Amino acid sequence: MNRQQSNALYDEAVKDFPGGVNSPVRAFKAVEGKPLFIDKGKGSRIWDADGNEYIDFCCSYGPLILGHAHECIVSNIKETVENGTSFGAPTRQENELAGLIVDHNRFIDKIRFVSSGTEAVLSALRLAKAYTGRNKILKFEGCYHGHVDQLLVKAGSGLATFGESSSAGVPDTLAAETIVVPLNDREALKKAFTEHGDELGAVVMEPIPANTGLLIQHPEFLQFVKDQCVANHSLLIFDEVLSGFRPGFEGAAGYYNIAPDIVTYGKVIGGGMPVGAYGARDEIMQHVSPDGPVYQAGTLAGNPVAMAAGIPQIKACLQEGFYEEMEQKTASLIEPVHNYAKEHRYPVKLFHIGSIMWISFGEDEAEVRSMADIHPKSGEYFKQLHSAMMERGIYFGPSGFEMAFMSYAHTQEDIETAKAKMCESMDEVFAREPAN
Ligand SMILES: Cc1ncc(COP(=O)(O)O)c(C=O)c1O
Repeated sequence: MNRQQSNALYDEAVKDFPGGVNSPVRAFKAVEGKPLFIDKGKGSRIWDADGNEYIDFCCSYGPLILGHAHECIVSNIKETVENGTSFGAPTRQENELAGLIVDHNRFIDKIRFVSSGTEAVLSALRLAKAYTGRNKILKFEGCYHGHVDQLLVKAGSGLATFGESSSAGVPDTLAAETIVVPLNDREALKKAFTEHGDELGAVVMEPIPANTGLLIQHPEFLQFVKDQCVANHSLLIFDEVLSGFRPGFEGAAGYYNIAPDIVTYGKVIGGGMPVGAYGARDEIMQHVSPDGPVYQAGTLAGNPVAMAAGIPQIKACLQEGFYEEMEQKTASLIEPVHNYAKEHRYPVKLFHIGSIMWISFGEDEAEVRSMADIHPKSGEYFKQLHSAMMERGIYFGPSGFEMAFMSYAHTQEDIETAKAKMCESMDEVFAREPAN
């Protein structure tokens, strides 16, 4: 494939942006080559600056559950933008989107819109700390919650440890307010609560951990986390920026039927525009300014154009059969490709939950539930597979630890094509004799 234009645009971009990008994962550092510059998208397809066409399974890392440039989103944005882009005053679009979400969600009474997932999580943390009067937070190793200072930490050695910053510029004193434990590890969690229980304002977790691979947890482990929070009077924050509206309308909370105290959203609710949100029951939300003492604000929060993009998308998610169809589509790609890899004894195993998908690596059928279960050669394997798939017009995000996403716009024909191309790509990378 010719990538002359993309390469030239990237060479220009590195003069203006650190690493040539405005978000690090776009930089192709983990895979071969330079980033594609995208000119347009429609439905399941994207076209790069050289006119190459791809079936897109990155879907902007999750927001585009209806695919690219869906007519109902485009027309609602156009209609809204004709009347102005921002007023610094409430608009009817905010009410409409909030109503659609809150009226169909058992876990939240009130919501506050912000402009990104990161902002949603940092606001939720502040609220939890104010509500409980405790400053420490517990997070799980491998879960990503945006670039919130207190959550940019990783585990040190030992089971329950104080966080050690994984970014320059995060003071040790702040990182020390974060306790990090491995996923899927009851003993570590129990130990952390025994040692710090009365200091922990909240446990924040991705209930479907999906930022260092798809590390699906046992429902019993999630329930254990919830029980520990209740016993220790800590709040449970489900960060559903990625998982929200994916396995079902109520996200992972609904899927597992576990009630978080605060929940954060992003991605899908904005239809591809910058939106985030946090919500909780009344008793907690009444602490938020101007009702309560927890200050949190935003010039562009609840922006009418962003709301206009989210409204039709959330309405589509509410249609009967929407999630069954998404699940069926996703399974019809993931299962045959997984089985093909197994038949050929390729070290590839695919996982999905709802419309979230992950290509994982390993020789066996073992579960992958924590970072320790991730195959050490995953990075190298993914790099080769990514390049082989891209050459065949199948686009996954350029990191083996990031998720792929199915959209409603992907047709059965797209899925058949993708299936064939993914199997061909595995043949190219892992060619071995098939098992008999
Ligand atoms: C679980 C989770 N939380 C928070 C964020 C941060 O959201 P944003 O990139 O919109 O700031 C992300 C982003 O991928 C995420 O996956």
